[in-house]
Amino acid sequence: MTDAPLIGFPHRHLLGIEGLSPSEITGILDLADQYVEQNRQVDKKRALLNGRTQINLFFETSTRTRTSFELAGKRLGADVINMTASASAIKKGETLIDTAATLNAMHPDALVVRHPNSGAVALLSQKMDCSVINAGDGSHEHPTQALLDALTIRRRLGRLAGLVVAICGDILHSRVARSNILLLTVMGARVRAIAPPTLLPSTVERMGVEVHHDMQKGLKDADIVMMLRLQNERMSGTYVPSTREYYRYYGLDNDKLSNAKAEALVMHPGPMNRGVEIDTELADDINRSVIREQVEMGVAVRMAVLDLLSRHRPNRPGGAGQ
Ligand code: CP
Repeated sequence: MTDAPLIGFPHRHLLGIEGLSPSEITGILDLADQYVEQNRQVDKKRALLNGRTQINLFFETSTRTRTSFELAGKRLGADVINMTASASAIKKGETLIDTAATLNAMHPDALVVRHPNSGAVALLSQKMDCSVINAGDGSHEHPTQALLDALTIRRRLGRLAGLVVAICGDILHSRVARSNILLLTVMGARVRAIAPPTLLPSTVERMGVEVHHDMQKGLKDADIVMMLRLQNERMSGTYVPSTREYYRYYGLDNDKLSNAKAEALVMHPGPMNRGVEIDTELADDINRSVIREQVEMGVAVRMAVLDLLSRHRPNRPGGAGQ
């Protein structure tokens, strides 16, 4: 990997896609492209973050995001510590703010946080001297997921502008949908939101998307079909009659996919509920599904984000440069 050019990235934290300009998003994706190549080499390590400390603080379960942030930090040379709420003093009643103050006293350089409450990560960022990265907060944002999705699309189709992207499923509870809508619309893609009325936020049309309740119509001539799972853990009450009926009307199978472009790509942020929002064979169809590729891109995007944010904190006596 050649030394990456210093792109303009004026942010200390990454709390969401909201507030990022198209050129900043392009800069992250360009840098991530270089990390994809590095990650395919036998020697994947760089010394860029030697001496830096990264804490991953997860208040919700995660496979992809937590593991890839850990790999990203380690491949850049950082010391990485993983904390889960269930194994921390939060279980003894310590507050989020006290937890932040405690971690801050240990002088980390980056704090990666996942939290069930929208806005909790932004609140934490106000109490920390280091960079804070949102790894998913409630139904608000999951910025690195949207960035890795964009990288996957851009590497496959060469662009984002002008593409028709259909986002289907539980959009109401999905931080992934929100971050993707923000990113894709600002980059010039046409976004369709496809869901039953019960699973759409009332404000979705104000986000510049086309709304569909009929999946066949919504998928017509789409370039990308992005499926979302039902987020039962965020639901209080009943949003769909049954998972069987949900699959019949909103589950992606080859028949519904035939409405999209012949070469349309199928995406899913994971974790998948096979047979609920997606047919199991379609999910594994390497000619259509780029779900595993999304996971690969996740490591590279998170390396790019850690790299860019670290440039706000140069190694020099006297501490942080903001
Ligand atoms: N896509 C995603 O955020 O997956 P995890 O919950 O496994 O991190």
